Amino acid sequence: MAIFFNENKKIFTMSTNHSSYQMQVNPLGILLHVYYGSKICEQDEMGYLISYRDRGFSGNPYDALTDRTLSLDLLPQEYPTYGVGDYRVPTMELVHADGSYAADFRYESYCIKKGKYQVDGMPALYAAEDEAETLIITLKEYASDVRLLLYYSVFEENDVITRAAKIVNDGESAIVLNRVLSACLDFQYEDFDLIHFHGRHCMERQMERVNLMHGIHRLSSARGASSHHHNPFFILCDKDATEHYGKCYGISLVYSGNFTAEIEVDQVNQTRAVIGIGDYQFHYNVKPKESFMMPEVVMSYSENGLQSLSHQYHKIYRHHLCRGKYQLTRRPILINNWEATYFDFNEEKLLHIAEQASELGIEMLVMDDGWFGKRDSDYSGLGDWIVNTKKLKGGLKPFVEKVNALGLKFGIWFEPEMVNEDSDLYRVHPEWVLQCPNRKPGRSRYQLVLDMGRKEVIDYLFDAICSILDSANIEYVKWDMNRSMSDVYSNILDKESQGQAYHRYMLGLYDLLERIVQRYPNLLLEGCSGGGGRFDPGMLYYSPQIWCSDDTDAIERLKIQYGTSFCYPISTVGAHVSAVPNHQTGRVVPYHTRGVVASAAGGFGYELDLSKVTEEERRLTKIQVENAKKYFDLVNNGTYYRLTNPFQNQTYTAWEFVSEDQSEALVSAVITKVYANGATLIVKPEGLQKDALYQIDGKEQVYSGAALMNGGICIPLPNVLDPNGAEMQSVNSGKEYGAVQYHIVKCSK
Ligand code: GLA
Repeated sequence: MAIFFNENKKIFTMSTNHSSYQMQVNPLGILLHVYYGSKICEQDEMGYLISYRDRGFSGNPYDALTDRTLSLDLLPQEYPTYGVGDYRVPTMELVHADGSYAADFRYESYCIKKGKYQVDGMPALYAAEDEAETLIITLKEYASDVRLLLYYSVFEENDVITRAAKIVNDGESAIVLNRVLSACLDFQYEDFDLIHFHGRHCMERQMERVNLMHGIHRLSSARGASSHHHNPFFILCDKDATEHYGKCYGISLVYSGNFTAEIEVDQVNQTRAVIGIGDYQFHYNVKPKESFMMPEVVMSYSENGLQSLSHQYHKIYRHHLCRGKYQLTRRPILINNWEATYFDFNEEKLLHIAEQASELGIEMLVMDDGWFGKRDSDYSGLGDWIVNTKKLKGGLKPFVEKVNALGLKFGIWFEPEMVNEDSDLYRVHPEWVLQCPNRKPGRSRYQLVLDMGRKEVIDYLFDAICSILDSANIEYVKWDMNRSMSDVYSNILDKESQGQAYHRYMLGLYDLLERIVQRYPNLLLEGCSGGGGRFDPGMLYYSPQIWCSDDTDAIERLKIQYGTSFCYPISTVGAHVSAVPNHQTGRVVPYHTRGVVASAAGGFGYELDLSKVTEEERRLTKIQVENAKKYFDLVNNGTYYRLTNPFQNQTYTAWEFVSEDQSEALVSAVITKVYANGATLIVKPEGLQKDALYQIDGKEQVYSGAALMNGGICIPLPNVLDPNGAEMQSVNSGKEYGAVQYHIVKCSK
């Protein structure tokens, strides 16, 4: 049993294989958070860790009577609120009908059941009855009929605990929520580093590790999407934690819109972390008998460093978040025409690319932006999801038939949530966009944002998308979203309800995505937002892969894919081989290296004009495509190891995949800087069986797992290599940016 309740002491203990989480109801009914960390016994009572002291300016609840040591300002709590004496970052700011800002929740009841709870209208982890256990604790507001339901599901095998919460207004008058975050984690004695993932368009999820300071560290998005700029995921870890050592806590929000995460170190060095829906322009009226549910938070703990924390997230997201036909099976290797043609294409051009692709073993053509309405640039056409017959003369069906006849599947690009002013949709329905009264809305990429909180918008988009998908044999959709929102005002909401507009947008989007995945169970969806601007667990519930970044430069991708790997499984990453000089950076990287970097992904493909590549590059493409097929299971379902940190190691970046049974591994390394007469480089594989014997493809020697893991493999020096040699192929630019790959296989000799 993963959840244990000590009735006498009112202690809830939730345990996974290697972690425990404990809460205790105190004599006043306040739900304390007493422990989260390495596994303890279910009889343990961790409340002994709380020190009760009378501290100045940290007051006491009235019903603590003469006890001046009991203060909400100091106690570790499960769901701390604003207004009643806790001055740290709150999860909730609640306003009652009389205008009072007070939320004082006390324990009322609990229930424990098999299986996993669901989150109303939002994505969440799923589990069979025997894969998770759920605890629901009900708290009641001290002086009103407002209830707070705290949901927990324990995935024992995965070392994961999820949380969500719901506010239920059982009173007679409406309440207002100005801030309502999903979860809080209070730590009394830890001294943490914070690891978070910031970035920008074309440079997402850059890993940064900082010392926590007294005061508040805030990570957030107010862009209407989880954003390129911050990811709704962070790690708190021991100051000396490494990939293999130290306590680490991961906190990941299953939501794709605005979010707020705050980490505070208080007056007595306690750490509090909170996360949930973004609090800017958030203002939610909950009428009598209505409720408001908050998105899910997925927490995981490892006492063995960052590597195992990531493995826990990879497993849970691969097996309990991603869904559908392509959750675990191989996805078609694709060629996307965006960087090959941009908007300038027609049927002949695309068919020419498809012909080349088919000869090389590529399996799907994706027609990107520009196939619909009047869309020859990004100034017009969004919203008009009708085939542009100037580009595709006979329409979509015969074109797709020709693509299929070449042996390729066909995929298509949509950006459903947006509209250009120069579009028929906008001319007919200007009221469908988010726009403040009497103001012109800000433009970005010359597009405006549709109000996805309007049912008729969702219905229109559903019909428009279905009529395209039904018109031809379309097996893949790239779902894009290419701007940050501003002027978020919905003209179907009254003025008291404008603070709901961002969240209603998300609920509408999730509803539309759910309708699409239900209607087309075999369709592969790839999420995208100018690359990885919405790379979050919320989107992964609908699309098992997300275009990781608009930056296709293989060297920059090393850092982007490294940062992404802390939370997200490699199977969810979309990565392509593109042309050089690279369109984002101008850098020239050998074709082989571009292939090695792009193949560390579940959504592997190409994004260049294959009619312009050299014979040698065609030869390499065939090998890369074969390898992507051959190594699919290893890469997608194997265990991923970060062997170097590209933010620290300036010389090379290495990573590895190991099969679950440890019989096979694939080690990749990319040289990021060459030095004259440089030192020998060593890469040390991980995750092999110490005593087993292994061989590296193409080499005679037999090694024990221990030899390879402790001794490592010498990477040949770039400046002594034949650029076309077997180990390091460096086609376009001589010695720089070479890459090696070692396929290690268990043998019986
Ligand atoms: C975004 C995507 C690109 C491409 C363009 C098309 O930037 O990330 O891959 O689809 O839109 O406009």
